[in-house]
Amino acid sequence: MKILITGGAGYIGSHTIIELSKIPGFEIISADNFINSTPETFSRIKKITGREIKNYPVDLTDFNAAKLIFSENPDLAGIIHFAALKAVGESVKNPVLYFRNNLNSLVNLLGLSSEKKINYFIFSSSCTVYGNIRNLPVSETTPLLKTESPYGFTKLAGERLIEDFCLSNPLFNAIVLRYFNPVGAHISGTIGELPINAPNNLVPIITQTAAGIQKKMFVHGTDYPTRDGTCIRDYVHVSDIAKAHVLALQHLIENNGNANFEIFNLGKGLGVSVLEVIAAFEKISGMKLNYEIGPRRAGDVDAIYSDSSKAEKILGWKPLAGLEEMMGSAWKWQKVLSGI
Ligand SMILES: NC(=O)c1ccc[n+]([C@@H]2O[C@H](COP(=O)([O-])OP(=O)(O)OC[C@H]3O[C@@H](n4cnc5c(N)ncnc54)[C@H](O)[C@@H]3O)[C@@H](O)[C@H]2O)c1
Repeated sequence: MKILITGGAGYIGSHTIIELSKIPGFEIISADNFINSTPETFSRIKKITGREIKNYPVDLTDFNAAKLIFSENPDLAGIIHFAALKAVGESVKNPVLYFRNNLNSLVNLLGLSSEKKINYFIFSSSCTVYGNIRNLPVSETTPLLKTESPYGFTKLAGERLIEDFCLSNPLFNAIVLRYFNPVGAHISGTIGELPINAPNNLVPIITQTAAGIQKKMFVHGTDYPTRDGTCIRDYVHVSDIAKAHVLALQHLIENNGNANFEIFNLGKGLGVSVLEVIAAFEKISGMKLNYEIGPRRAGDVDAIYSDSSKAEKILGWKPLAGLEEMMGSAWKWQKVLSGI
């Protein structure tokens, strides 16, 4: 069965290619224009899996370029759609860029899926769709509050678009996965998060600071209504997230004909503060991190963590890695990248 992974050179896409490659019977192609990644990721994937992945370096917002992938692969059966821009702060500064990139690419893929009769679709969503929620942990039935950023809105609108598409196409089967905070790197240290610009997520900021790429880092806000005043998030290992995609794809295939639109939270269910993440890093690395307290960042919610029992019950998903393993693998990857 041939599966298109969009954003296959990206952080979660590349880890998902590795996990899906372990399952017999799947052929994988990718579409990634390297707006936030590099082609080298595919050589790294080959080192781990022995597989050469064909990538189409197209911008998926370009309908004709996207269409070519479908024409050249008439046997395509499903799509795992990762490709999107994901920096909350950048989306606040440039909402049009985010709406255009994240929504036009999805519209194109859904249009082409309908034309080419592709029936399996997995969408990368985010816990950001819950907004600044007070009622924790959040489950899939928790009512959504206003999204705090244009990025969050693109995820919410994407979910809605897919839900409506499923209603009008009963043969189309989609799963929306709402990730909490994917961190860490492949156990081999061969691939991991590779921010092209200055990273916006906490863990690569920590590892880049420890590696000396950034002189110091800022903790954005210590006046949040949380136990130590810093933001609380639900960190989950990227390979655990990747495995959830394999399970979701198998669920879609096996359950063909049942509920054709489902949403799953993917988090560990533990709220961890920024200062606690820093402490875990300092423990595993034996280093003292150079950080300062800075102002809040636009678009950040106070605290969020997941009730992921639905994914456990229905998909059989259980995130295994703990915080120290997440930080250890992220640091191992950073050391490979920085030649330390
Ligand atoms: N990493 C996180 O913390 C996180 C959390 C929640 C949701 N998500 C979502 O998961 C998905 C994957 O995230 P990631 O962390 O792997 O990001 P990433 O930036 O590492 O990967 C995304 C990939 O998509 C590609 N891409 C973006 N726009 C494209 C376009 N128009 N055409 C072709 N390729 C394009 C980029 O080059 C990149 O390689 C995204 O949809 C993101 O919004 C990520």
